Amino acid sequence: MPRRFAQLTFTASVQAAQARYGTRAQAERYAAGGSDNSELGAREREFIAARDSFYLATVGDTGWPYVQHRGGNPGFLKVLGPTTLAFADFRGNLQYQSVGNLGGNDRVCLILVDYPQRRRLKLLGHARVLDLAAASDAALAALWQLPAGDAEAPVERVLLIEVAAFDWNCARHITPRYSERELSSLLDPLHQRIARLEAQLRELGGAEP
Ligand SMILES: Cc1cc2nc3c(=O)[nH]c(=O)nc-3n(C[C@H](O)[C@H](O)[C@H](O)COP(=O)(O)O)c2cc1C
Repeated sequence: MPRRFAQLTFTASVQAAQARYGTRAQAERYAAGGSDNSELGAREREFIAARDSFYLATVGDTGWPYVQHRGGNPGFLKVLGPTTLAFADFRGNLQYQSVGNLGGNDRVCLILVDYPQRRRLKLLGHARVLDLAAASDAALAALWQLPAGDAEAPVERVLLIEVAAFDWNCARHITPRYSERELSSLLDPLHQRIARLEAQLRELGGAEP
């Protein structure tokens, strides 16, 4: 089955670069084989549900790409269906660059990285903005459990992403990094064990004549 991601990204310019660097045949084999990768499966769902951040690229009216970070609690990027993602977007820094770009071009690219396990997933899609100020959009968004935001940065809209294709990248050059939350889940059992051992030692010490 042709690989959808390659169909969308192996443009004439990309193919020319592959030809220049001698990888055209390899790239063709890659594009022709494997999974279609346009519907999110169990592996992608599990991966997305565990992420606490991703990078979102949009395209400006001038053709310049624009990339911005989005973050939240794990699972803040929700998988609503096999090809649909959603996340709450905040009032933020008031510049509205990503959402503004989407008014001219709905194409987005997301990259999600699992630093401890050194895995990364990239997705292409079309984004739709649901403005919570619009009653019908707010009613639709209420179907999902969205973070409320706060007075400084309330949730103003939901970005719905219709996934066009996704692809996994290799682990090379991803330095393992751990968030506070990830470190806690690794270290808490150790700290508890140390506390238990210390308590046992104290008891033994107290029992000495
Ligand atoms: C007070 C405040 C709170 C924010 N809270 C979040 C947040 O919880 N999650 C997030 O991804 N971005 C948060 N942001 C950042 C914005 O969502 C966003 O990155 C910023 O507005 C730039 O977006 P833009 O480059 O698309 O215009 C916050 C920004 C501010 C100023």
